[in-house]
This record gives sequence, C-alpha cells and structure tokens, in this order.
Amino acid sequence: MPKLDGKVAVITGASSGIGEATAEALAAEGASVVVAARREDRLADLSNRIEEGGGRVLAASCDVTDEGQAHGLIRKAEEEFGRVDILVNNAGVMLLSSVGKGLSDEWRRMFDVNVLGLLYTTDAAIETMKRQGGGHLVNISSVAGRKVTRDSSGVYAGSKFAVGAISEGLRQELLQDNIRVTIVEPGAVATELADHITDEDARESLGGLLNLEILQAEDIANAIVYAVTQPERVSVNEILIRPTQQPV
Ligand SMILES: NC(=O)c1ccc[n+]([C@@H]2O[C@H](COP(=O)([O-])OP(=O)(O)OC[C@H]3O[C@@H](n4cnc5c(N)ncnc54)[C@H](OP(=O)(O)O)[C@@H]3O)[C@@H](O)[C@H]2O)c1
Repeated sequence: MPKLDGKVAVITGASSGIGEATAEALAAEGASVVVAARREDRLADLSNRIEEGGGRVLAASCDVTDEGQAHGLIRKAEEEFGRVDILVNNAGVMLLSSVGKGLSDEWRRMFDVNVLGLLYTTDAAIETMKRQGGGHLVNISSVAGRKVTRDSSGVYAGSKFAVGAISEGLRQELLQDNIRVTIVEPGAVATELADHITDEDARESLGGLLNLEILQAEDIANAIVYAVTQPERVSVNEILIRPTQQPV
C-alpha cells in the first residue's frame, strides 16, 4: 500500500530538478500532488507523466515572489483536493557572485524567491494545516545554509541560512499544532540551478565541484519521501546530503 495514500502535497519549483523529481516520488507513494512554478509547459509535461503513471495531479502556475499568487496556490490545492498535508518549499535561485560587482538585482531575486517566497506559501499553508489538525513543511535549504565558503557566495548562503533559522522558528512555533518541519540541505545536485549564474568567476570556481560525481535530483526526492513517511511522533528536523566526494 502506498505510504501517502489520501495525502495532498504542494511542491513549489516543480518545473525542473529537485522539485520535479520530488513531485514524481510523492505521487508514486500515492499522494495527490500540486505542482507549481512559472514555466507552464514544463508543468504540463510533468503532469502528463504523473497521470500516465496513475497519479493525481494539479498544475498551478505560480510565481512565489508574488504573495497573492503564493496564497492562491494553497487555496487552489485545497479547492481541488480538499486539504494540504505537505508543502515542499523548493523553489529557489542560486545566483552566485561576490559582493562589489553591483549585482543587487540578483541579491534581491535570491531573497525574494528563497526567503520571502517560502514565507508566503508557508503563511497560507499554516492556516490550512492548523484547521486540519496537522501537516508537514519541507524547506529546501543547502549545504550553503550551514557553511559559508568562498565558492558558495555569502549572499546565496545568507538566503539559505535564513531558511534554516526560519525553519527552526517554525518548528518551535508549530509543534503544538502537530505541524512538522524538515530542513533539507543538499550538496551539489545535477540540475539547472547553476545555469543562471552570471558572474564568470563564480561559474569558474563552481566548475571543480561540478566535475565530481554529484547527486541526482532523485537522491534528494528519496530523502524527502523518507521524512514525510515517518510515523506522526517522528519529526525529521534536518537532512544534510552531500555527494560522497564533496569536501565542504
Ligand atoms: N542543485 C543543487 O546543487 C542544489 C544544492 C543545494 C540546494 N539546492 C536548492 O534546491 C532547490 C531546487 O533547485 P534545483 O537544484 O532543483 O534547481 P532548478 O532545476 O533550477 O529548479 C529551481 C526551481 O525553482 C523554480 N523557481 C525559480 N524562481 C521561481 C519563482 N519566482 N516562482 C516560482 N518558482 C520559481 C523554477 O521554476 P520556474 O523557473 O519554472 O518558475 C524551478 O522549478 C533550490 O531551492 C536550490 O537552492 C539545490
């Protein structure tokens, strides 16, 4: 029997990489999934695959930096499937660079998506989860949310440290409401994330890491499935996963 039968999961940033793999993995465990991102064509392909596999899915176009759209996403999920049990706050951007190059638009985008976007969807989902009597928030941080290195860029790391602090705050605020919080901190994963970096120096210094045998998006999806399929008394608070050969 699938472990998430009857559960409803919302996944942000589901149009590629970790979010896409997580949506497929949660659907394979029997969850109804709401897949959200801005690229609707990618969501449509994913939805077709999930439906062909017998899963239940709703594709929802959503820019998480727009508070109204983020709240609308949770509302749509509830309207379609009646509840929201799991919210995977995965949407993120990693625009690595060093400060002093005038890339303030990129800092703003990172904090808008990685931090505020996560807060907007969470804010809406908490209301639903409290009404239901429980739920599970899974927040995707990074190794860079635990350790700052020259390669990871202080600003990106700052956005992910914020995810860690906010998640621990949420855990303490919500434990009486039976809402669990899990922080997932991946090392290097083979996705499109690094493609958007504009700073050539940052690209170059990341190159060495990407030449290692790095993780696949499914490796992170499997960890998320583990966290959300534990008995209710078990709260998996933090999962740090590096490629075997990643030194820091
Ligand atoms: N790959 C790694 O090495 C790694 C390591 C540590 C942590 N992470 C974290 O893992 C998460 C997923 O990244 P990934 O590696 O899977 O990269 P990815 O393939 O680039 O996926 C990022 C996702 O975020 C979505 N997104 C970006 N801006 C958005 C916005 N304004 N509103 C809604 N969705 C938005 C993108 O969808 P649209 O463009 O279609 O909106 C896309 O689906 C991120 O939080 C990232 O920081 C990744």
